[in-house]
Amino acid sequence: MDKETPLTEVAEVLHMNSGTGGTSYATNSLLQQTVIRMTRPITEEAIRKLHTSMSFPAKLAVADLGCSSGPNALFVVSDLIKFVGRLCDEQAHCKYPEFHVFLNDLPGNDFNTIFRSVQSFQERLNSEYSVFINGVPGSFYGRLFPADSLHFVHSSYSLHWLSRVPEQVVEANKGNIHMARSSPEGVLVAYYRQFQSDFGSFLKCRAVELVAGGRMVLTYLGRRSEERDSREAGYIWELLSIALNQMASQGIIDQEKLDSFNIPQYMPSPTEVEAEVKRQGSFAIDRLEVSDVSWAVCNGELSGTDECNMENGAGYNVANCIRAVAEPLLVSHFGAGGVEVIDEVFRRYAAIVSERMANEKTEFVNVIASLSKKLASPAH
Ligand SMILES: C[S@@+](CC[C@H](N)C(=O)[O-])C[C@H]1O[C@@H](n2cnc3c(N)ncnc32)[C@H](O)[C@@H]1O
Repeated sequence: MDKETPLTEVAEVLHMNSGTGGTSYATNSLLQQTVIRMTRPITEEAIRKLHTSMSFPAKLAVADLGCSSGPNALFVVSDLIKFVGRLCDEQAHCKYPEFHVFLNDLPGNDFNTIFRSVQSFQERLNSEYSVFINGVPGSFYGRLFPADSLHFVHSSYSLHWLSRVPEQVVEANKGNIHMARSSPEGVLVAYYRQFQSDFGSFLKCRAVELVAGGRMVLTYLGRRSEERDSREAGYIWELLSIALNQMASQGIIDQEKLDSFNIPQYMPSPTEVEAEVKRQGSFAIDRLEVSDVSWAVCNGELSGTDECNMENGAGYNVANCIRAVAEPLLVSHFGAGGVEVIDEVFRRYAAIVSERMANEKTEFVNVIASLSKKLASPAH
């Protein structure tokens, strides 16, 4: 980063590609939807336990934090409402609660696309449900809701986004754009410290906002290994870094800008998540699990078909998935280069990813924590 450029807060620039077009998050979030489906049994178990411990209140307040836009935002909510309905149906005299649903994301998120689909969403739901949908713009690293107002919090594939790239990283991570195997130890530690600070703030805020006994299911893009530079965590970014470095060496993008570009993400191990939850002290860990999801999931039904085996086919879909997530960050950092440059970045990236997918095991690791707020939590 050049000396005059201030560090950018992620909240000001991060958002997934908006709308419903070819490069939008809405069109390229099958991977994330698969992860939501994979973690459904854990979410359902948490809802069942919530019901057992406190019976559903007349007004059930649930929040999805980092909801983004597109089908996944309301997919989570619809699953949750139907499951509560099923639980209620299992019992005599159980009246469906009124659902107060809060969809949170950063202010740059395309809330309009979600809002436009609310009416058809409500029409598809059983008319016996009363559902009130609210958009809540703001960072989940700060307070978003009144004290003691939420019963259940869900967050999937969002909490690995940090509130900022630590300053030490910008100076010391040239040649890389994330925590790579060639990053200095200081860079890895700085990223970790930022994760500790951010996740600590997140837990502190939710501890105020959830009622006692309230529950959270949090899914991270994470890692199994305790090695912070392990390949499983940052590999997807390492490959993007190869494409960007090629383009910088050919003068297509600015080398200095590339030297100061870093992805504000930390993919924690289960041990690291556990350590922060214990340190903050307000939540008990009900479950802490790890699972894997293949990069090929980005290809959905096409996986393994001829279409997927086309040159760059498999990598093309993964590249689109990452483009939907990272394009606004790239554009904000590299500035005016035009659509052609971004197209070229992701064309090269798709080729690199395809080659790796054909020759290596390529998986994302999910770390899932199911937590409940202790009846007596530490002073806020
Ligand atoms: C990959 S998307 C996941 C969206 C959705 N949960 C899903 O599973 O498809 C991550 C979302 O987290 C949001 N996000 C990142 N940091 C955030 C923060 N500090 N506060 C609120 N949202 C945040 C991003 O803007 C983005 O929309």
